[in-house]
Amino acid sequence: MRKKISIVGAGNVGSTAAHWIMAKELADVVLVDVVEGVPQGKALDLSQAQPIERSDVHVQGTNDYGATADSDIVIITAGIPRKPGMSRDDLLHTNYKIMKDVIEKVVVYSPECFLIIVSNPLDAMAQAAYKLSGFNRQRVIGMAGVLDAGRFKSFVAQELNVSVENMSAFVLGGHGDTMVPLTRFCTVGGIPVTELIAPDRLEQIVQRARDGGAEIVKHLKTGSAYYAPSAAAVEMAEAILKDKKKLLPCAAYLEGEYGISGYFVGVPCKLGSGGIEQIVEVRLTPEESAALKRSAAAVKELCTVIGV
Ligand SMILES: NC(=O)c1ccc[n+]([C@@H]2O[C@H](COP(=O)([O-])OP(=O)(O)OC[C@H]3O[C@@H](n4cnc5c(N)ncnc54)[C@H](O)[C@@H]3O)[C@@H](O)[C@H]2O)c1
Repeated sequence: MRKKISIVGAGNVGSTAAHWIMAKELADVVLVDVVEGVPQGKALDLSQAQPIERSDVHVQGTNDYGATADSDIVIITAGIPRKPGMSRDDLLHTNYKIMKDVIEKVVVYSPECFLIIVSNPLDAMAQAAYKLSGFNRQRVIGMAGVLDAGRFKSFVAQELNVSVENMSAFVLGGHGDTMVPLTRFCTVGGIPVTELIAPDRLEQIVQRARDGGAEIVKHLKTGSAYYAPSAAAVEMAEAILKDKKKLLPCAAYLEGEYGISGYFVGVPCKLGSGGIEQIVEVRLTPEESAALKRSAAAVKELCTVIGV
């Protein structure tokens, strides 16, 4: 039996995630959206690429959650994205309403699934999904850190003209502005990046990674990034389905780790067949710890507004 991944939201991130899953032949895919015709049309188009890509998974598009029944993983990308000048937090109320609607339906059909949340503002939407689903914290995972780390890694690889495969990066904290990149743990072929790039230049690269989403929104004008975000969500899904025990930065519900309780914050997690199997704690400097607490406080503020 093949595994099954449902994706709610057949927009840019959702349909591109379906594309990566199909191309990797990772699982059967069900694309769901409120707009009639869009998931059906995109799924049909993807399925016609399958003979060319040599992929035999089943790809389906629908407006009916019945088709998502017994999914192993549900990736939630439903919601509005940012337009130029908007912050992720501007999306809060609209996307919370959408999240509520989506979670109510998802849990009826896939009560045992893992939820990977992508909709923004990420940490608050992950918290909403966790509270609304009633799932345990191992099964509700927010995607942000894999993307933020990916952005940082791509900029460092370009700076040094080295393979992206040489890059290993470690980010903590919230998505975007409150991200806390731990450059002392970032390596290039095993060499700390701090040995290879001067501190002020490294800080510029960190800032570009932090603003990475906004830089793309500015170019696109009508939407936000989707190739890298969808690739990041699929990397997380793959780690779970293949029980890879992979350490990835994910938004997880903390219960005392890093001195934080009751909120989703980006931390290194081991992803395997049990979902979040472990949250890895490392010793932080007082500055890093303070930055992480600031990030958690920002999440708390948003969660208070929507009451989750
Ligand atoms: N976590 C991250 O790092 C990250 C990165 C990129 C995008 N995002 C977020 O992901 C979300 C999706 O971005 P996008 O670029 O794909 O947007 P998009 O507008 O292309 O797609 C969103 C889709 O959601 C659908 N939708 C709306 N309400 C729905 C509902 N109730 N049920 C089912 N589907 C519904 C829309 O019809 C649309 O097709 C946004 O909130 C965006 O900010 C997060």
